[in-house]
Amino acid sequence: MQKNDIQTIRVNTQKPYEVMIGKDILHYVDNIIKNKKRVIITDSNLYNLYKNNLSNIVDKDDIFYFKAGEESKNRETLYAIYDFLINKKADRYTYIIAVGGGVAGDIAAFAASTYMRGMPLIHVPTSLLAMVDSSIGGKTAINYGGLKNIIGSFYQPELVISDVRFLDTLPTREYLSALSEIIKYGVIRDEKLFVFIEQNKEKIKEKNMETLIKIVTQSTENKVKIVENDEKEKGERALLNFGHTLAHAIESITKYKEYLHGEAVSIGEIFATHLSIKKGLTNHSTLNRIKSLLDYFKLPTKINKEFNSKELYRIMKQDKKNKNGVLRFVLTKGIGLSILSHELSESDIMDSIHELKE
Ligand SMILES: NC(=O)c1ccc[n+]([C@@H]2O[C@H](COP(=O)([O-])OP(=O)(O)OC[C@H]3O[C@@H](n4cnc5c(N)ncnc54)[C@H](O)[C@@H]3O)[C@@H](O)[C@H]2O)c1
Repeated sequence: MQKNDIQTIRVNTQKPYEVMIGKDILHYVDNIIKNKKRVIITDSNLYNLYKNNLSNIVDKDDIFYFKAGEESKNRETLYAIYDFLINKKADRYTYIIAVGGGVAGDIAAFAASTYMRGMPLIHVPTSLLAMVDSSIGGKTAINYGGLKNIIGSFYQPELVISDVRFLDTLPTREYLSALSEIIKYGVIRDEKLFVFIEQNKEKIKEKNMETLIKIVTQSTENKVKIVENDEKEKGERALLNFGHTLAHAIESITKYKEYLHGEAVSIGEIFATHLSIKKGLTNHSTLNRIKSLLDYFKLPTKINKEFNSKELYRIMKQDKKNKNGVLRFVLTKGIGLSILSHELSESDIMDSIHELKE
């Protein structure tokens, strides 16, 4: 592939770095870090599918993999990574290359940020969610004591390489669920992206590579802009939570078993749009546009009528993103415009939950 087919986005955080987006670009890792010592941290699915490709970048023995899945994002896996690093005599100049979805990315990045007080890190996101969200912005974490992402750090990588070719093997449900995060960027700040998705939805569904490069690039640019303005999440970065407050409550009430994160976000986006209509910020045409895209990608937009609304409300009140116990929601003023609102009554919220019930 020609170099000019690669999209490069510079991220101007305290430590600047670049995100490269393209197809069949994994080998750039080697070109960029040349003779430097490196190890790969990945999960069992990626290892089984890509061990030959990965061994073009590191020796087979320098690949650590853990059992795929959110359950592995814990202290045991983290300690096993530290043991592996000690065993490999890794030092603070050894590169950690995180290959995988958000789980591998988050735990490998946390290990990189803490082992010897920090090692150079390269993210190679392989799920759509990791490409457009978790590999950008420097948040790292593990789960602990039944709490999600409760221990973590902010740690920026040296480089991110998003090779959309990986998406060929990503299971359909995982793939479609991440589209709710891409639609989110359209709703909160990028009308052009939203219209592009509307006009190219068939190509997106069939994973057309050129279209994927476009939406991954555009989503990355949106996240990068927000992160550059608010690296440590003191203000604008909160807009990224559009649809997420209810999503977290739904995930928690269903014990993270029923919905993938992006599916819960899809329901949350419809909820936040109902809330926005209630506050007079937007109208049903915005709702219909968002819902018809989510429906097209077979994402859920309703909840079972058995869902306990009071419990959802209680969990939302405890969300760690609230300030002084006041519920904050990101609302839309129409496609491409969003605001953070504190002034919502319990009845506005309960009514909007009710609108979701089938
Ligand atoms: N750091 C952040 O800012 C941030 C943001 C959003 C989410 N997250 C975290 O990301 C995690 C979710 O990420 P995820 O959805 O990528 O989960 P994941 O890493 O578990 O990946 C989902 C599944 O897809 C598989 N997979 C990934 N890429 C594949 C490929 N190319 N081919 C075949 N299978 C592939 C994985 O093995 C896994 O089974 C959560 O832990 C969440 O907390 C972090």
